[in-house]
Amino acid sequence: MATWNLTGTRHHVLICNGGSCMRKGGEEVTSAIREEIARLELDCDVHTTRTRCNGRCEDACVVIVYPEGIWYKSITPERGKKLVQQHLMNGEPLEEAITYQYEQEQGFIFSGNSTTSLGIQKLGK
Ligand code: FES
Repeated sequence: MATWNLTGTRHHVLICNGGSCMRKGGEEVTSAIREEIARLELDCDVHTTRTRCNGRCEDACVVIVYPEGIWYKSITPERGKKLVQQHLMNGEPLEEAITYQYEQEQGFIFSGNSTTSLGIQKLGK
């Protein structure tokens, strides 16, 4: 148990540890991301949280970065390290792995490629 002072934190990274993501290496992805954050001395800038299923299992391993509202798919340990270096350290999202991006006026925008499932339509949309 811990209670972190998050004042000044710039990114919150949600690392999916639901069943589908864990079967695709979620533990190794979690470790790789956290180790890279520590190696680059970004602990004060980045807070990470292990989550349960985020509802995009076909995209396993799923990693989500706020406040940008960017959802990533198919994150491997290597891609996780690249995500830390490129997005969290340099502010350049990993375009090739983005599935959704948040836009102020429109909400989440699907940004996946042809191999990405749009998923089940929510009721009322
Ligand atoms: S287990 Fe990760 S999105 Fe479902």
